[in-house]
This record gives sequence, structure tokens and C-alpha cells, in this order.
Amino acid sequence: MALLEGEAEIIQAEVEAVLQKHGVDSGKLIPILQDVQTRLGYLPQEAMLQIAEALKIPEVEVYGVGTFYNQFRLNPPGKHRFKVCMGTACHMAGGKIIMESFERRLEIKEGETTPDREFSLERVACVGCCALAPVVVVDEEVEAKVRPTRVDGILLGFEMQKKASEKQKRQETGAEKQQEEEGREQ
Ligand code: FES
Repeated sequence: MALLEGEAEIIQAEVEAVLQKHGVDSGKLIPILQDVQTRLGYLPQEAMLQIAEALKIPEVEVYGVGTFYNQFRLNPPGKHRFKVCMGTACHMAGGKIIMESFERRLEIKEGETTPDREFSLERVACVGCCALAPVVVVDEEVEAKVRPTRVDGILLGFEMQKKASEKQKRQETGAEKQQEEEGREQ
């Protein structure tokens, strides 16, 4: 995934800080990766390369650990996170169809993030409200008995929210400019 402006520098600085804390010790690869993920919210490819170089171990070894344990996420979390429950009750109630609906609408696969980093899609195990299956956790809110049409509704809600905040920003910038101009005229 393409990095945002200034993100490469942040990654480099955070990895350096973590390496300083743990020391250049290949035996501490897992805690190093865990710390980097805590600081950055995910494990970028650039961070893994930097770690491999610092610890003088093959890149493939670092990738191997990063991809083996599912505690590590290789994509940045989206601004909004959709967690589709795939526990037994939700799976039986159509969780897979719900996951596919999100994948189709967002044009990403499970575990991925949209290129604008607005949304990420994850699979989770039982979230403890099986009576409401199939369940999706949208940010921190539980959505119950979700149907594919509800997936459209959730996404439409975010789209409208985004448009409204863009409009508000434009209005604020317009009002500021007008105030500036009025100030100059006086
Ligand atoms: S299986 Fe989804 S909430 Fe329990």
C-alpha cells in the first residue's frame, strides 16, 4: 500500500526508537515487531525491511514471522473499521454473504484497507452476541442481524457524513476568506 506524505519518515523514526529499546538482537524479533505495530497501528513493509537490515537477518525471515502470526496486521487500519463476525452462529446466519457484500462494495478483500485508507475490513471470531447474528462491529458499534442491504446503508451513511463534513469545511474556508477580504478593505 502506498505510503502517505511524511509516513516513511515516521516509520523510520519509530523503528529506530523500538530498536534502541530492545537492542539489535535477532532473538527479540517478535517483541520488536509487536512494539512497531503498537506504535504505527500496523506492520508496514518498509518497517520490516529496516528491521531485517538492522538485525542482519534475511528479509524473508522477518516477513515469515510477520505473516505467520495473525496478531500482526500488514495493512494500515482504515479510518472506519468493519469487523465481520465469523463465529459459528454468525457464519450459519450468513456472515460469509455479509463479508462478500463488504468486499464487493469496498472493492477490497478481507484483511485489506481501501487505498484512501477510509475503510478496512476484518474477520473476527465470536464477539459475544450470537443471538444477534450475523453481527458486524462498525468502529465500536455492534450492528445486529445484518443483511446485504444494511451493508449498503452503512456505507451510504459514511458517504453522506463525509460529504457533509467536506461541505462544512468549504463553508468555513469561504467564511474565513470573506472575513480576510473585509478586513483588507477596511
Ligand atoms: S458467533 Fe458472531 S457473535 Fe457469536
